[in-house]
Amino acid sequence: MTNTYYPEAKLDRCWWRDGVVYQIYPRSFADSNGDGIGDLKGIIAKLDYLADLGVAAIWLSPINPSPDRDFGYDVADYLGVDPKYGTLDDYKELLRQAHARDIRVILDLVLNHTSTDHPWFIASKESRDNPYSDFYLWRDGKNGAKPNNWLSCFDQATGWEYVPARGQYYFHMFVKEQADLNWRNPKVYAEMMNVFRFWADLGTDGFRLDVFNVWFKDESFRSNPFKIGDYIPFHWQKHVHDIDQPEMEKAVRDIREILDGYPERYVVGETFYPEPWKLRRYSGEDKLHAAFDFDFTHCKHDPEAFRKIIRKTEENAGDRLWPTYVSNNHDVRRSASRYASDEDDERLKIHAALVILLRGTPYIYYGEEIGQRETNVPRAKLMDPVGKRFWPINKGRDGCRAPMQWNNQTNAGFSNGTPWNALHPDYETRNVSAMIHDPRSLRSFYKRMISLRRQYRVFQVGSLSLLDERNNSVLTFKREFSGRSAYVLLNFSADPAAVSIPGVTPESEFEEKVSNMAIAEFNAGGEIVLMGNQALILIGK
Ligand code: GLC
Repeated sequence: MTNTYYPEAKLDRCWWRDGVVYQIYPRSFADSNGDGIGDLKGIIAKLDYLADLGVAAIWLSPINPSPDRDFGYDVADYLGVDPKYGTLDDYKELLRQAHARDIRVILDLVLNHTSTDHPWFIASKESRDNPYSDFYLWRDGKNGAKPNNWLSCFDQATGWEYVPARGQYYFHMFVKEQADLNWRNPKVYAEMMNVFRFWADLGTDGFRLDVFNVWFKDESFRSNPFKIGDYIPFHWQKHVHDIDQPEMEKAVRDIREILDGYPERYVVGETFYPEPWKLRRYSGEDKLHAAFDFDFTHCKHDPEAFRKIIRKTEENAGDRLWPTYVSNNHDVRRSASRYASDEDDERLKIHAALVILLRGTPYIYYGEEIGQRETNVPRAKLMDPVGKRFWPINKGRDGCRAPMQWNNQTNAGFSNGTPWNALHPDYETRNVSAMIHDPRSLRSFYKRMISLRRQYRVFQVGSLSLLDERNNSVLTFKREFSGRSAYVLLNFSADPAAVSIPGVTPESEFEEKVSNMAIAEFNAGGEIVLMGNQALILIGK
């Protein structure tokens, strides 16, 4: 496979294509100073752990100063580090230490909106004629009503908030303390481009762009048309005027041009309401290196359901786009709780092999490698605005943001103080220390899968084809590169199941066979028989 549209991909090694990205939610990873909140020094102290796991990069959820109305996704200073996480010097040290271990660092940039505590907004809301008055989306009301029908997806239904000092409304697509920036203002645009330069100059390797495709809004503020939706008011509109405006295409090119001025930088977009045409519009060639879709985060434990997503992804990507695969992040229920109903981790190994050995960049989320479960946070303790607004239909995102379970000591080894968020009670048995030296543990399996991806080019850049596509139990795919074939067989069922692979016979020789169980046998019909929940990886010579 060639990937001529990516300058970096011509390099023999390309970190963001070949390796695994590990997402850290900094509040919850490791607390070095006992204030109950994770911090940069805590992350630095765990770099050896991450190097041992074998990840190529870490993505940090936002570390900028934030009043935490949306836990870091409401930024009050784009060029700073929140004191609760440390200092800019700590960040530089993190970069230095990560790079020394060959780990790249990706920052999360939240450029659609700022916190209403940002100095720009504080100035902007004062009057209609100050240097920042046009930094946000201000509009007059229409005959005593809101300027148009645009909605917030997080808060009260309307996205418009009235400010008496200006006699106007400002727009917020998320909570009202997250005011949307006016990307059509050249000064805002220049400030935003500067954010990339500032962090790239420090040596930051990549960026994850929060909800990038909503940055621009319709110039004349037309109302959206109506459509039938679900319990979320936001879903009762076709978002033709507040999402995916044409101007975004130039913005992704400008960002790419800036980053191409530095060696081996990367930018991945969080596509809001991802669809294949959006990934094509915004990524590849001279645009973002990749754009997320999140199909795996809500896929049921069923081989055909996953095959459908893989087919769609492969078809859309071709050899022009580079896919990403994500089972977990800070916005969704943890996959361990979605896929495992008890403490047995074998099923989760199937998912680990899947996400790590597919053709595309695998993103894993802190704690995923130990099968950390979703924490049950009672209503009275909810902090996430989404959970508070939509409970009980949607209990929010606090449960997937619980402290990392390092050991069975006080607060799971996360903090000496009182953790900001509830721990999962199973940390006494489910934790890094208990798993790291056990070759049969889920953590060891993740490490093994990552090491296969690191070792074999076929898993990094090989083509992908699905095999035995009518099999209801086993998902099988083949990767091929430069004369080498590798097969990944994943039995989603708890019962034994057989797979036939053309050309693979009991006589076939392999470089390596890897499995979470005893290596499978052939039956009389020449099929490979897998045990329930078995993952088998056959790497040809
Ligand atoms: C993205 C983030 C989410 C945040 C929202 C608003 O979807 O992933 O956590 O709440 O944007 O910034």
